[in-house]
Amino acid sequence: MRNHSPLLALALLLAILEAPLATHAVGENKLEVFSWWTSGGEAAALDALFNVYKKQSPGVEIVNATVAGGGGSTARPVLQTRLAGGNPPDSWQTHPGWELLGQYVEPGYCEPITELYKSDGWDTAFPKELVVNLMTKDRKIYAVLAGIHRGNVLWYNTKLLEKNGIKVGNKMTIEEFFAACDKLKAAGIPALGVGDSGIWASAQLFENTLLGVIGPKGWADLFSGAMQWDDPKVKEAMKQFAKMQDYVNPDHSALSWDQAIKALMEGKVAFSSMGDWADGEFLKANMKERQDFGWMSHPGTDGAFIIVADGFTLANGAPHKEAALAWLKSVGSKEAQEAFNPLKGSIPARTDVDRSKFDGYHQWSMDSFANDKLVASCVHGEAAPAAFQQALNDGVTSFIVDKNVDNFANALVQAAKESQSKK
Ligand code: GAL
Repeated sequence: MRNHSPLLALALLLAILEAPLATHAVGENKLEVFSWWTSGGEAAALDALFNVYKKQSPGVEIVNATVAGGGGSTARPVLQTRLAGGNPPDSWQTHPGWELLGQYVEPGYCEPITELYKSDGWDTAFPKELVVNLMTKDRKIYAVLAGIHRGNVLWYNTKLLEKNGIKVGNKMTIEEFFAACDKLKAAGIPALGVGDSGIWASAQLFENTLLGVIGPKGWADLFSGAMQWDDPKVKEAMKQFAKMQDYVNPDHSALSWDQAIKALMEGKVAFSSMGDWADGEFLKANMKERQDFGWMSHPGTDGAFIIVADGFTLANGAPHKEAALAWLKSVGSKEAQEAFNPLKGSIPARTDVDRSKFDGYHQWSMDSFANDKLVASCVHGEAAPAAFQQALNDGVTSFIVDKNVDNFANALVQAAKESQSKK
């Protein structure tokens, strides 16, 4: 400072004095959105959502706070720390059901957005059962859905199956599936692509397999406590899941879910049981429906739709509340739903969108959502409290190694008891 002129010193001093004001002014025009959408397809879809918002709210600077890791396995703990520390993002990605209501609404981290349902006609535009059953507490609504994924989809590499003389229709029994796996195994190909560096991807394979055995009615019973986790049917699903391990790619624990989908695209594995965010990856890679990749319900789950819905919240004490409200309005708008979902693989949560804007997969999923039995995902935080979701992940981690059905079943019986007692 010694060599500076008095004028410059004054300018610097003024700059320092003005700095907090300037930060505040910029702060007013920001919006921080927290999510785990970082894979190719996820990031492209999020960008589409941001672009609609930017058009509707020009001049707002978007802080895209993402934490990589599919299923939010890394993002959710980071978010919890921020919320507990009183440092919330304005809005964050959440699954409805237990995750939204138990983890965020119950401790007081969310502000209701019930008003938007009235002002923006959402009362009639969104499926009532979902809003009422999974997003409402004490008659207040706490999130808006951007889209609805189907969790129980079996994807396949069309050319690889053809090359190996495997014909598939639009559904498969578990026996047919294992027969195809055997054929591929004999040809030296890992039939089933898994990327469970975040264990949830294997937990999801189990969840899908479980639904295939117990069906939607069994699902309702299991999560209401009318069926136990050591029921013979649940154990049968565990046995099937154990058998699947014989056909999984050996590097599964080193891969993320999207790397496993990439392996499918490259013909290194034939099938992958994954939620339809996988469709976003196929689209991003310019893969052609039916020609390059195909899909059907996970074996035995035809007629049922595992909901994995993505919503956004309004933080209690959102640093930029006005921008956040505009963001939520935007997410719920027809324009945003039509821009986001074709890229994400999910179907719009709004029921009044233009179907012609969607490709074959989306039309299939829309029909399934309209006609099939809907069940909530446990792996994605909807059907059970976080502690149970964690216990399921832990159980799957051990089971993949020891394949001990009794241990797995007993651990889940115990975890269900514990979460039941906390309800
Ligand atoms: C789910 C989420 C999807 C997708 C997937 C993989 O939990 O609902 O939108 O992002 O994880 O990351």
